[in-house]
Amino acid sequence: MSGALHNNVYIVTGGSRGFGLAIAKSLVEHGALVGLVSRNQSGLDQAVAEIGADFALGVAADVGSRASISAAFKKIQTHFGRLDGLVNNAGLATPNKVENLVEEEVLLQVQTNFLGTVFCSQVAIPMLRNGHNPRIITISSASAWHYDEMSHLSIYAATKAAVERFTRDLRLEVQGDGIGVTCIRPGGAWTNFSDGWNAQALEGALAAWKEVGTHMDLGMEVTHVGDAVRYALAQPPGVAIDLMEIRPNALTPKSIF
Ligand SMILES: NC(=O)c1ccc[n+]([C@@H]2O[C@H](COP(=O)([O-])OP(=O)(O)OC[C@H]3O[C@@H](n4cnc5c(N)ncnc54)[C@H](OP(=O)(O)O)[C@@H]3O)[C@@H](O)[C@H]2O)c1
Repeated sequence: MSGALHNNVYIVTGGSRGFGLAIAKSLVEHGALVGLVSRNQSGLDQAVAEIGADFALGVAADVGSRASISAAFKKIQTHFGRLDGLVNNAGLATPNKVENLVEEEVLLQVQTNFLGTVFCSQVAIPMLRNGHNPRIITISSASAWHYDEMSHLSIYAATKAAVERFTRDLRLEVQGDGIGVTCIRPGGAWTNFSDGWNAQALEGALAAWKEVGTHMDLGMEVTHVGDAVRYALAQPPGVAIDLMEIRPNALTPKSIF
């Protein structure tokens, strides 16, 4: 199936690092071209340097702003001359107990994870109607459904559950246009995801998780998620993987924390 992506153009949000960069690399390794979108241009420049400027373009935008996304997607479509797929990957979390969450933490997670997926999909749909085997991928999280995941991520998990429910209707609405829609629900992998987490809130979340969690859902490499997204995008026209859950097949013991 490796030829299926040849010369196709995909936008990957959150493409500057972590899962997004691994997804972009996996697509380019199989002949695709990628437009990377995240807030900081410096991170995008580094990612483009790693991938190769002939195959990638980085455009800074905030997925939580439809105007910002509209301008960025148009720039990418103009640069490559087409658009064949969107990977809604940008996302963040701030752990905290419900009663301690400050308003900004709640709004930022909803705005980025859920509304970002809505806005990016809205902007991409008309561009994808002319695409080759066009597809939209949404990235959820195992924390939306599994109780052994990290504690104090109620808002994060709720935004991902909302992404999954949104994806169901999105799939039905664009089927008639030949656009395939896949939700990918990854478990844990080491990325920079927790870099900015408040130390005290993280300590509280870990203590709570040690009480209730069975094991830490960590242990995949980012390349596993990159390859899962590529597999979904490379399905033949007329076929779509609706939902793919990919989790580590090993128990990471509590003692690592
Ligand atoms: N890591 C895991 O174990 C795990 C497990 C399940 C699901 N996920 C999901 O996988 C996705 C990627 O996570 P990751 O671990 O790769 O995180 P990461 O290393 O923190 O990368 C997040 C990416 O999203 C971008 N981003 C954040 N907010 C944005 C915004 N408002 N607009 C545009 N770009 C934004 C970041 O760049 P800027 O900061 O420059 O904007 C960065 O490129 C997320 O949706 C996450 O919820 C992660």
